[in-house]
Amino acid sequence: MCGIMGYVGPRPAAPILVDGLRRLEYRGYDSAGIAVANGTIAVRKAEGKLDRLVEVLAEDPVEGTVGIGHTRWATHGPPSDRNAHPHADPSGAIVVVHNGIIENFHRLRDELAAEGAEFASETDSEVLAHLIARYYDGDLVAAVRRAAAVAEGAYALVAMAEQEPGRIVAIRRISPLVVGLGDGENFLASDIPALLHRTRDFLVVEDGELVVVEAEAVRLETIEGATVDRTPFRAEWDAEQAEKGGYDHFMAKEIHEQPTVITETLGGRLDGHRVHLEDVRLSEDDLRKIDTIWITACGTALHAGLVGREVFRRLLRIPTRVEYAHEFRYQEPLVRPGDLAVAISQSGETADTLAAARLARGLGARVLAITNVVGSTLSRDADDVLYTRAGPEISVASTKAYTAMLVAEYLLALLLGTARGDLDAEAADRLARGLEHLPDLVDRTLRREDEAVAAARRLVDADDVYFIGRGLDHAVAMEGSLKLKEISYLHSEAMPAGELKHGTLALVTEGVPVVVVATQRHLYDKTLSAVQEVKARGAFVVAVAYDADDEIDRFADVVLRIPDGEDLLAPVTAIVPLQLLAYHVARLRGHDIDQPRNLAKSVTVE
Ligand code: G6P
Repeated sequence: MCGIMGYVGPRPAAPILVDGLRRLEYRGYDSAGIAVANGTIAVRKAEGKLDRLVEVLAEDPVEGTVGIGHTRWATHGPPSDRNAHPHADPSGAIVVVHNGIIENFHRLRDELAAEGAEFASETDSEVLAHLIARYYDGDLVAAVRRAAAVAEGAYALVAMAEQEPGRIVAIRRISPLVVGLGDGENFLASDIPALLHRTRDFLVVEDGELVVVEAEAVRLETIEGATVDRTPFRAEWDAEQAEKGGYDHFMAKEIHEQPTVITETLGGRLDGHRVHLEDVRLSEDDLRKIDTIWITACGTALHAGLVGREVFRRLLRIPTRVEYAHEFRYQEPLVRPGDLAVAISQSGETADTLAAARLARGLGARVLAITNVVGSTLSRDADDVLYTRAGPEISVASTKAYTAMLVAEYLLALLLGTARGDLDAEAADRLARGLEHLPDLVDRTLRREDEAVAAARRLVDADDVYFIGRGLDHAVAMEGSLKLKEISYLHSEAMPAGELKHGTLALVTEGVPVVVVATQRHLYDKTLSAVQEVKARGAFVVAVAYDADDEIDRFADVVLRIPDGEDLLAPVTAIVPLQLLAYHVARLRGHDIDQPRNLAKSVTVE
């Protein structure tokens, strides 16, 4: 996720672009840059927060009234001056900014390199500048259109050409883009809040559309060239609401971003059932040597690890352990040379997780990081890195980073399973197809938010809530329980459904809420016996179950439905109603949802 800006008008472009980028910084902040046309196109960019760019501009200003800008959240290539946007073709006559992923960029880059092109960065985005320049013969729209025809993926692109100084041209393929309509000037941005203080009149560029922005005119068409006639709309949001994309809290916004985040995390990495993970370089010899996989993490990342353990065990047949990083580092763990340590961390900066990874490495393990932050300490310490592409997560209670971690684990299992020969082609295909369906399944689950709201009303005055499940459902129950306690401050515990009768059942009395996750068909009857045990004690049962499950209604007081799907992938959909449940309970209780008491987004001390 990155933020993009554009301006065409009579005023100096640089301050307008920088101001817009500041409002888009939540979308990424590892580097930033602008390009302004004034005869030639001048580019200024810098690694680091936006203030670094401001310093660069103070030392070396740019003049001109047409320009584009970008604030980056790295996906291809670590944060650096040269990987910062804008990117230009070698002549500097075509300049682009880009948000999203060009899935076939390796192939495009190889083709361009074979023709002699030299690249100044490691990004997928630079390929677009080269492509547009290759097709350019005085008509930027035509060249952008041709580049879009070959560049696959979900992205938004804004381009300018030295020979056409009065216009910028942009396309949208899934990644968001809006035009702000001014008086004798027009703006482009990744979202409406970046422009709300400039105008209230907007044209939303829809998926598959191209827009030509000039000072006095905006022309919208499809990427293929058909005319689009759209009436502008007037935004009535206040600024704070707008920053949260119209949601009341970042947590809600991030929960609803999950279909996109899953799409981005999968983007360009699946080809049939073949997986391409560019920063994972385990050789066949490395794979053979793995005796045990050690997953180390904390908090929500650890809960993602619980899902990973089950997935690795089932698909790879490799013994897999999940260890709290803070325990592992003092345990003298029995790691053997050649083992694989998978360190999971959204921030890549959690002190205990970093220490655990270093310990495992010292014992001879190969360390693979799953992290959301390119260039984070963990990503630099690790031998291999698998980036989730969730974009910046602002809410302390993690949601979209968790689902992105799960998707990363499935991709890893698919990669290792096919490379080691543990997974036959049919099973691999099935998993790959299932992964591709996930954005749709999560989207459909999100549409049933009213069910979570109704359940939340029933839980809001509870003192204690218990979460149960078996196998993968237990992993989901752990994360659902954590979400609830983090932001609602209700006491909540999760346990394997079979463990309940060994103690906790003593606490289940009339009206005590028990949330059961029941998606694993091979364990379903066993899970239901536990439900019957709590029901017999008067528990108020909330169940997470598939649409096709017509038995559950007989036992549960409230059912949170998810679409039918593969059991192995169910954690990705099953967590969604539980995130919504936690959110709505906390909301009804009037808590500070995005910044719960006593907690921090990233714990960088022991
Ligand atoms: C903190 C956060 C949790 C997070 C955990 C691990 O406790 O509040 O939401 O899961 O750290 O963070 P990491 O960045 O390593 O995933």
